[in-house]
Amino acid sequence: MPSLKADSEQIKICADLLENGSLVVFPTETVYGLGADATNGQSVAAIYAAKQRPEFNPLICHVADLDAAMAIGDFNASALQLAKAFWPGPLTLVVPRHKDCPVAPLASAGLDTLAIRVPAHPIAQALLRAFGKPIVAPSANISGQLSPTNCQHVLKSFPDLPVLDGGTTQVGLESTIIGCLEAGVLWLRAGGLSRQDIEQVISDPLIEIEADSDSEPRLAPGRLARHYAPNARLELNCKTIPPENLLLAFGAIDFSHPSALINLSPSEDLQEAAANLFSALHQLDGLAQAGQTISVMPIPNSGLGEAINDRLTRAANS
Ligand code: TXA
Ligand code: MG
Repeated sequence: MPSLKADSEQIKICADLLENGSLVVFPTETVYGLGADATNGQSVAAIYAAKQRPEFNPLICHVADLDAAMAIGDFNASALQLAKAFWPGPLTLVVPRHKDCPVAPLASAGLDTLAIRVPAHPIAQALLRAFGKPIVAPSANISGQLSPTNCQHVLKSFPDLPVLDGGTTQVGLESTIIGCLEAGVLWLRAGGLSRQDIEQVISDPLIEIEADSDSEPRLAPGRLARHYAPNARLELNCKTIPPENLLLAFGAIDFSHPSALINLSPSEDLQEAAANLFSALHQLDGLAQAGQTISVMPIPNSGLGEAINDRLTRAANS
């Protein structure tokens, strides 16, 4: 598919595509983003499938302005200082999820925090306003390839997706990511906004969380939960299920189970299973009595199954 001229007609078409659950690529001032309706778990799952990532990395929610951001996240004083100083712009803030946040749990990989960004690019702004809901968007490249700064780069990874053409992006580097959490103001990823700019605005010191050379933040365990960890014990690849265990099922079930069960996908659809994974874990964990185990049925390792199994393995070992 050739790239699309980003006029109001094409932007409306792309907003409708997002509403229907499809993926759309759009420019921001940092890099091009692969966008989906943040509130639609299946669309969020489609992003992970398209990027071919073997694990679920939490995604950034893009919104049009601070008001829209405050509807999905809780902003403390530092978050407000930073948002007012640098939004719209190349800054992402990680804040606690708002209690009424409609963003799908898969978007933040089950974490109770959310990465939020208000991009400045006029095409991103126009798309966000036409769509009217948060858009999750990782950089629009297949995992392991460079972040795209023009349409040609995007089309190398995604030749069949609609791409709104905004020419070459101005910043060319992903957004700087800052955590504004109870632990303080955390430096999570170097990016398009400098450390000095940030330090001039905040009154608290910037806490260093080791930044990685490949621009993926590595969050120090203990300071900030990197992976969702249930309290209940998890047993994976269960072929026989003790009746007293809670059950995380996959595929058609031809037996009756006396304890609570949630089926990730009766039709063995891995995208559906991914969309349901974190909310199912949260729910079963909430139901589990002290000492009760959650049995997980085998899930194939193909496609999104690899990322699902990666997260389940981490959850079982945590
Ligand atoms: O400039 C950008 O930030 C671009 C444009 C498209 O907005 N997006 C981007 O997304 O770089 P991505 O998915 O490539 O990087 C998002 C980073 C990930 O490394 C992820 O770990 C981090 O944000 N992240 C997302 N949610 C988080 C959370 N709740 N806590 C900590 N880190 C989070
Ligand atoms: Mg990326």
